[in-house]
Amino acid sequence: MPEQAPQEAYELPGTASMPEQLPPIPADSSSIEELSYPEDSYAYNTQQAVIARKALFAPTGVPGLDDILAGGFLRGKTYLVAGEAGCGKTIFSIQFLLHGALNGEPGLYIAIDEPTNQLLRGLKIFGWDLRDLISSKRLMFLDMRTHFSKIYMRDERKHIEPRYIIEQILNAAKRINAKRLVIDPIAPLVYGGKEEDVLYAREFLREMVFAIEKTGELTTILTSEIPTGSTKLSRFGVEEFLACGIIVLAIEEIYGNVERIMYIRKARWAPVKPSKYIFDIVSGKGVVVREPLSEYLKRMRRS
Ligand SMILES: Nc1ncnc2c1ncn2[C@@H]1O[C@H](COP(=O)(O)OP(=O)(O)OP(=O)(O)O)[C@@H](O)[C@H]1O
Ligand SMILES: [Mg+2]
Repeated sequence: MPEQAPQEAYELPGTASMPEQLPPIPADSSSIEELSYPEDSYAYNTQQAVIARKALFAPTGVPGLDDILAGGFLRGKTYLVAGEAGCGKTIFSIQFLLHGALNGEPGLYIAIDEPTNQLLRGLKIFGWDLRDLISSKRLMFLDMRTHFSKIYMRDERKHIEPRYIIEQILNAAKRINAKRLVIDPIAPLVYGGKEEDVLYAREFLREMVFAIEKTGELTTILTSEIPTGSTKLSRFGVEEFLACGIIVLAIEEIYGNVERIMYIRKARWAPVKPSKYIFDIVSGKGVVVREPLSEYLKRMRRS
């Protein structure tokens, strides 16, 4: 069980260290005038609203998606990107980190499935050469495979201390002052090979998400592999409840065309209802939302 219950109310990230008392307003009247209400109050409010949204939402960097989500992902919260094999989960996640890294928000990628070198080589072929961003500490890749294989070899899986893994992730995040985190995919990080381990895995996941969100610093993507043909969203059935939003990536055949579908299944505090979109994967750009599925279907019916 986590040591501390999660906070009920959403707290602005970074406010934990704010001084309790605000500094006094300077006596200099000119600075007070600067704060006064401009004539065009509508423009002022709109501008303020834009600034407020930017503070609250971290743009995903996925063309089309940020408009749909009215800004992006809620800062400091956790999102689940789920999908069958090869649907674009890793490309989506890297795109999210890359966008952050290029805009002053360092990102940490926890590699579990694939050796980091292999992944970086693949991304370079795709059109994303990340070496400079890594050497300038705007991106960090933490390979947890070696760590786990050692533990599994010793068959001490029952003794993996979740707190130890969480601590490792948070320490790495601190080293680069990370604002974005990706764990891709989440399931192997949490051993759940046996039936009775599901409860253990759920507790582990809860503890991990609470610990990450408690920092108030990290906007997080967990990816989850959906077995082909399954209606499940995650391995342990708890990830979707812990997440603030869920994006399902899929491939569907529509009128004889095989298309990529993005299903925005849940997005807390975003003005969207569950909706499906057609998207493409484009070299060097990543995931690009093309149009709502409903529009696509209308067009296909007409033609
Ligand atoms: N240059 C490219 N142009 C267009 N599509 C590409 C390109 N490179 C890869 N893809 C597509 O991206 C898919 C792989 O995406 P990605 O690795 O993000 O999927 P994933 O969901 O993480 O897969 P896995 O479940 O195996 O980890 C490939 O199946 C391919 O269809
Ligand atoms: Mg992947």
